[in-house]
Amino acid sequence: MTDKLTKTGAAVGEPVATGSAPSDAFLDVRDLKIHFPTDDGLVKSVDGLSFQLEKGKTLGIVGESGSGKSVTSLGIMGLHTVGQYGRQKAQISGEIWLNGRDLLSADPDEVRKMRGRDMAMIFQDPLSAMHPYYTVGSQIVEAYRVHHDVDKKTARKRAVELLDRVGIPEPAKRFDNYPHEFSGGMRQRAMIAMALVNNPALLIADEPTTALDVTVQAQILDLMRDLQKEFGSAVVIITHDLGVVAELADDILVMYGGRCVERGPAESVFYEPQHPYTWGLLGSMPRIDRDQTDRLIPVKGNPPSLINIPSGCAFNPRCPYADVPKGGITRTQRPELAPAGDRHFSACHMPQEERTRIWTEEIAPKL
Ligand SMILES: Nc1ncnc2c1ncn2[C@@H]1O[C@H](COP(=O)(O)OP(=O)(O)OP(=O)(O)O)[C@@H](O)[C@H]1O
Ligand code: SF4
Ligand SMILES: [Mg+2]
Repeated sequence: MTDKLTKTGAAVGEPVATGSAPSDAFLDVRDLKIHFPTDDGLVKSVDGLSFQLEKGKTLGIVGESGSGKSVTSLGIMGLHTVGQYGRQKAQISGEIWLNGRDLLSADPDEVRKMRGRDMAMIFQDPLSAMHPYYTVGSQIVEAYRVHHDVDKKTARKRAVELLDRVGIPEPAKRFDNYPHEFSGGMRQRAMIAMALVNNPALLIADEPTTALDVTVQAQILDLMRDLQKEFGSAVVIITHDLGVVAELADDILVMYGGRCVERGPAESVFYEPQHPYTWGLLGSMPRIDRDQTDRLIPVKGNPPSLINIPSGCAFNPRCPYADVPKGGITRTQRPELAPAGDRHFSACHMPQEERTRIWTEEIAPKL
């Protein structure tokens, strides 16, 4: 704990002013900005994101492709300079408090030591996170031994235990397989085992099931739910699919153009959403009880350019309700997150009664 830590008693999900002491929350992200200078201009991938998460709870982050979900998770892990987009130096500001320590002002060596031990990440594609030339087991052993001064035999026992726990059959035998000898679902399980081997207090799962078929997806999500109960970690799960987080998460945060447009308890965001973009996401969710042609109503238009984010509400160019009168608020004023229910916040200029009416009378009956 640092001497900077004093308690504000802020509730999970409640926006808090930055620059003051952090809340009690285990993970407390404040006004996080991650910008990339490029030849075309400054890409504002994350632009003022704040949220809190308690230990033992799950936060689901949803949003379309390019909304800044992965950049956010890499930023928390201290990995914002790496990844599929190369190594441009990111400009990062704000605060990321993990268990009372601000990761952004901490010594990078310290953050490196915390990675794997205090916080771990499950990536969308396990093949890119696992080394093809080493056996699955040896990679889990290495991940364990980086943080534990134990001999290889003890580490092997731990790795086999974990492989068993995540449902790999014959784990002692499978230990010696290479990643390509595993099926996609098994590789994802192995990656979960690797992430959990040090029992991290924070686990970030970035689209952990998108590459898998539906049945395997369901199995992996069940497994994550069980493991979370067992390990008591704080979990951030990132996905395009609101349905996934509605089942798995305690809280949901909806991202659009690098910012949060809505967040709150999963039940409220799923059943009483308060932002037109969230309505769009719900409308585009596949439904097993509907005909294919019926169920996919994608949000029309394209995600905003993160170099020229529209002024005012970034969703404006795509929003069917952009012209609903907003009591004198001009198009160029940016809506900030405002209370929209119990621990529920939404960034939309429309009066709340109007939003509730549109949701209950016009949108919900069609879903
Ligand atoms: N190093 C970088 N330099 C420039 N732009 C970047 C860099 N890293 C990410 N971006 C941009 O930041 C935006 C957000 O990317 P991010 O990977 O976080 O999206 P995402 O929400 O995870 O999308 P997906 O659902 O497709 O995974 C994208 O427009 C991406 O092009
Ligand atoms: S502020 Fe206006 S444009 Fe933005 S989501 Fe609300 S209604 Fe749509
Ligand atoms: Mg991503």
